[in-house]
Amino acid sequence: MTPTTSVPLDFLGDLRRTHHCGELRASNAGNRALLMGWVHRRRDLGGVIFIHLRDREGVTQCVFHEDALPEVHAKAELLRSEFVVAVEGIVERRAPEVVNPNIPTGEIEIVVDKVWILNESRTPPFPMEETVDVSEEARLKYRFVDLRRPRMQRNIILRSKISFATREELYRQGFLEIETPFMTRQTPEGARDYLVPCRVQPGTFYALPQSPQIFKQLLMVSGYEKYFQIVRCFRDEDLRADRQPEFTQIDLEMSFPRQEDIFNTIEPLIKAVLKVIGRDVDTPFLRLTYDQAMRMYGIDKPDLRLPPFHVVNDLFPADANLTAAGMPVVAIHIPKTGPLSRKERDELKAYGQERGLRVYDDIKRLERDFADPVAAVRKRLDASEEDLILICGVGEPPKTHRPEEDVFKACGQLRLFAGQKYNDRHKLLDPTVFRFLWVVDFPMFEWDDEDNRWVAAHHPFTSVLDEHIDKLTEDPAGCRAKSYDLVLNGVELGSGSIRIHRRDVQSKVFAALGFTPEEARHRFGFLLDALEYGAPPHGGIALGLDRLVMILAGETSIRDVIPFPKTAKGTDLMCDAPSPVSDRILRELNITLRRS
Ligand code: AMO
Repeated sequence: MTPTTSVPLDFLGDLRRTHHCGELRASNAGNRALLMGWVHRRRDLGGVIFIHLRDREGVTQCVFHEDALPEVHAKAELLRSEFVVAVEGIVERRAPEVVNPNIPTGEIEIVVDKVWILNESRTPPFPMEETVDVSEEARLKYRFVDLRRPRMQRNIILRSKISFATREELYRQGFLEIETPFMTRQTPEGARDYLVPCRVQPGTFYALPQSPQIFKQLLMVSGYEKYFQIVRCFRDEDLRADRQPEFTQIDLEMSFPRQEDIFNTIEPLIKAVLKVIGRDVDTPFLRLTYDQAMRMYGIDKPDLRLPPFHVVNDLFPADANLTAAGMPVVAIHIPKTGPLSRKERDELKAYGQERGLRVYDDIKRLERDFADPVAAVRKRLDASEEDLILICGVGEPPKTHRPEEDVFKACGQLRLFAGQKYNDRHKLLDPTVFRFLWVVDFPMFEWDDEDNRWVAAHHPFTSVLDEHIDKLTEDPAGCRAKSYDLVLNGVELGSGSIRIHRRDVQSKVFAALGFTPEEARHRFGFLLDALEYGAPPHGGIALGLDRLVMILAGETSIRDVIPFPKTAKGTDLMCDAPSPVSDRILRELNITLRRS
């Protein structure tokens, strides 16, 4: 049965808008205007009805007077939230006492003499006002309504503008936008791929790309020199606030680059993107090696809005016994927290202890035994009496491949925990402050406890520093790569490397990773072939577009800058995906499900 409408509807016919809902100003007073949009709010004062008409660009107040035009007013009585209407009338200046300074159209209103109801709406599941808190579940289920809310519209429009600015800047720099396939072969990390069954070749699967990495390298081998793509990537990994199973990268690759050339490409790109929100940033960005970042922040994506910690072993006597032999004594510094209560300090201490640290949380007490060293610590940290200082050591060295680094990592976590904890009070982590940096020279390999072997820290096509080629097999822990991350406010925004373009070096790296030549051939065959056909030196980077937009929009979840995101469990609540498929389809795909 076709549902009938509760109100008579009008046709769009030849109606055309003269203005959008954010456009009219006092200078338009006296003109006629025809607007279209959604009924954002309706107030019925008896003889006068006000509606706020909303479209993508803003809101305009429209007035219906009963005494002047009773039939138009009667139609306005039918209007409800989110009805779709067209109105026509005279733009009038509002009286000074009713000017709304909060909206750009606040000086005028339209005195309506014609109204068309183009569609009705059921009562929305939640109000459009952004001041109203709505559960994320409801927002995602009714995403088409949620996306109408001003905050989401701002974010999605910002995203579009950032994509445009990116394209403009990269075209300006001579990059070509080239597409790469979504239906491809399961490579190289494999385990986290989404698979697509191939109907015409039973038992075989395509994989959705985790990134266009191999294809962009092949494009360099093919001589395209400067490639970019704003591209969807797919990863079946555990989700967090800044991770989605499908997300978008600004992906690029260049031939013959030095690391410096990549930075000189990205820094102007970031400037162009910041311009979209009326901001600028000084370049070049700070650069830290991975080892420096670890020694100063205990993390490879430092948030520079908090000060670094300092290694202070040298300031204490050799027999101070604050840490195990050979391990660092670290002074963490969080400015302007004011004095913390016993309970607050205990909490910080417990957080550190859970990570294997010995935390000297009471600097005044430490001062009793070590007056001069503590004074020297304060001086090194440039700390005031108002500031929190936590001195950390360890009872015994961690039994790991990089014990000192692991102590730094624990201190880094404590630094962030303390900084975030006292952020509210002291606005240490101001979201409108953008602190970019490059972290360079990452370790080439990471130890994989599960598989008990070294794995590529970035990916297996990353070059090792020229001076470390000979260390590849003897000292994998000490090998550093020509790889770099772009970090913004503690978030890894992008990651890239100078690639291996020589077949002999690639073989050595595969050997260090424990791949036999056959395994390597099986997994990366066509790339290895390509390296034998005149591969130029090349390198690139990919930035997470969602993360970039998230930070510039002042959001804390990438779901708020993606039109149709998945929940933390990887589901789409609106489409109800993923979903089972019928036995008939499974049969066609030659798939049998194991039912438990
Ligand atoms: P990487 O895996 O580091 O590098 O990814 C690059 C950037 O993509 C973003 N990102 C994500 N964003 C949202 N959800 C996710 N699940 C997710 N995973 C990654 C991050 C990250 O810094 N091919 C290499 C790049 C290269 O070497 O050129 C790559 O994909 O912001």
